[in-house]
Amino acid sequence: MRPKRPPAISRSLSESLRAGDGEDVLVTGGAGYIGSHTVLQLLLAGSRPSSWTTSRTPPRSLSREWPSLPGIDIRDKEALEKVFASTTFDAVIHFAGLKAVGESVHKPLLYYNNNIIGTINLLEVMSAHGCKKLVFSSSATVYGWPKEVPCTEEFDLSATNPYGRTKLFIEEICRDIHISDPDWSIILLRYFNPVGAHPSGHIGEDPRGFPNNLMPFVQQVAVGRRPALTVFGNDYSTNDGTGVRDYIHVVDLSDGHISALQKLFDGSEIGCEVYNLGTGKGTSVLEMVAAFEKASGKEIPLVIAGRRPGDAEIVYASTAKAEKELHWKAKYGIEEMCRDQWNWASMNPWGYGCPDPAD
Ligand code: UD1
Repeated sequence: MRPKRPPAISRSLSESLRAGDGEDVLVTGGAGYIGSHTVLQLLLAGSRPSSWTTSRTPPRSLSREWPSLPGIDIRDKEALEKVFASTTFDAVIHFAGLKAVGESVHKPLLYYNNNIIGTINLLEVMSAHGCKKLVFSSSATVYGWPKEVPCTEEFDLSATNPYGRTKLFIEEICRDIHISDPDWSIILLRYFNPVGAHPSGHIGEDPRGFPNNLMPFVQQVAVGRRPALTVFGNDYSTNDGTGVRDYIHVVDLSDGHISALQKLFDGSEIGCEVYNLGTGKGTSVLEMVAAFEKASGKEIPLVIAGRRPGDAEIVYASTAKAEKELHWKAKYGIEEMCRDQWNWASMNPWGYGCPDPAD
């Protein structure tokens, strides 16, 4: 039976999505930030997503509708086997993984174990069950400190921390398995900086503990959970001295996955292809803060600090390849990203949970 559509979510945002052909798509990490938005866009596009999570329960407001399987750790191969034995999946979108850069420096084995061993297990079980279509969450982190911008998919790759290396290694593993078995069709999506939330305000980003990324931190300052944003460096060679990134609305990013899936199913020879998902526009930290202040009407107090080790100066995407081959292009700008982020934050100041005594 096709899952029911979440009632509280407007369909309007997805009108431009072609209805899917009812593919059975397994989504690992489907309750995470990008995963939950993608599951929603899949439902709206007519695919039949199944997802599981080990990190948290599905978003509370959508839990009755959420196509969830019992919590499974992708390192548990037996459990993976059972899932694949019970359903024939047409494709997998693989989000599950750890993603905190700082934590990965202190616990590299945890990252290699979770991200790499988990992915190898998944690929082995997929292969054994003849499911050889994959969309993988990679990251712009594989461009390291790019020598020039915009970053094109052909740039040399590097990583400056264990988290980044897991993305790099998994990309290489995917290229190798395709060489060994051309039946595989794999799309590697390199995300730039996903921000914002679903415009319904029902799902958004809710990092555990201290937020590492800019916009979750800004959001927590706006709702009074943190006193000020620390700006990491104002001496870069950029217009206002602060770091420049390519922020992309999470709904646009999720739609990029639908486009990737459509490509996997359109009969073309794919092999193992990589695409940037960004807007192609760079925005500084101060510009982003100003846009958020405008959208929220809240002042964000700033503390200027030194550069964060490992941070690049300017990173933004070339979007030409995704536009041409995936027929996908980001629709939203930073105003919409900040509007929707604030909508989610103001409706859910404590994210999915209750006030954390440690906050
Ligand atoms: C970071 C990760 C990257 C990961 C990406 C996921 C690092 C070094 N890189 O990228 O591997 O794929 O998140 O989205 O962590 N900033 C502040 N104050 C803050 C937080 C951030 O000024 O409290 C600045 C940063 O210096 C940077 C910009 O905001 O200039 C964006 O930072 P962030 O959101 O952490 O993303 P990235 O560093 O691009």
